[in-house]
Amino acid sequence: MDELNIQWYPGHMTKTRRMMEADLKLVDAVCEIVDARIPVSSRNPDIDRICGDKPRMIILNRIDMADPAQTRAWAAAFRDKGFAVIQTDCKNRRGVADFAPALRKLLADKLRRYAEKGMAGKPLKVMVVGIPNVGKSTFINQIAGRKGAKAENRPGVTRGKQWVTIDQGLLLLDTPGILWPKFEDPEVGVRLAYTGAVKDDILDVETLAARLMKMLGTRYPDAVRARFRIEPDADADGFALLTMAGRKRGCLLSGGEVDLERMARILLEEYRSCKIGRFTLEAPEDAT
Ligand code: G4P
Repeated sequence: MDELNIQWYPGHMTKTRRMMEADLKLVDAVCEIVDARIPVSSRNPDIDRICGDKPRMIILNRIDMADPAQTRAWAAAFRDKGFAVIQTDCKNRRGVADFAPALRKLLADKLRRYAEKGMAGKPLKVMVVGIPNVGKSTFINQIAGRKGAKAENRPGVTRGKQWVTIDQGLLLLDTPGILWPKFEDPEVGVRLAYTGAVKDDILDVETLAARLMKMLGTRYPDAVRARFRIEPDADADGFALLTMAGRKRGCLLSGGEVDLERMARILLEEYRSCKIGRFTLEAPEDAT
């Protein structure tokens, strides 16, 4: 996943923003893909400003990995803010077919105007944007009905505009708009690291895992109990919980001490592969 290595720098962000502003003039709606596990941290901080009053859609992706009740709550919260919302699991092609009908509903006024002016059939044009690793490329390939061919997926690369036909009357800009996450908030970086969207080395792996353990113990105590056979006591810090889990798992060094680094890697792997459960780490009521 080359896109994980994207190094954003101010000039790069400015160039990307300008390109997106130019692309925006060509489209009727912007469809933003977010990771349903972290619907705050997987958004670009400037997207509302960049998009102005363009009609917008939120695609809550990776719903197979997220808490279904929270996904429903997030869908309702985004709808309340005026976004069209669809929920997808691009890995298993679920929800992808909702895209075109949801867009037509979002752009119903425009379609009506086209019809009144005798322009029925004029295609709607849309673009897909999102930060790296939310599933843009997979989504575009699926709605375009193509396999394998990776959409150009580097930020700030000048390219000719290409349109893909989704169906009669719906065109999609071939290349996703790759945006940057909210760097200035360290918590955002940590959450992206939990999911594997940025490298683990944002924090040392033990600290990262201890924080994740604490968060899971608070939000999903039953799952932590069931998986690690520990009591996620509200007073215990993440390191203590991780150490207890390591002991239960038999993750020990030769002297009998817990091998915390090994347990940390186990937790991150089991979280990312949903072996512990399907969790959402941000709730709509936490969003500022
Ligand atoms: P990007 O363009 O936004 O950077 O993301 P991309 O489509 O490359 O997707 C990143 C990874 O996430 C891919 O896995 C992709 O298969 C996976 N993915 C996308 N959508 C979903 C989803 O809804 N659910 C799940 N579980 N996974 C999803 P990969 O490991 O890079 O490749 P591969 O193993 O699929 O070949």
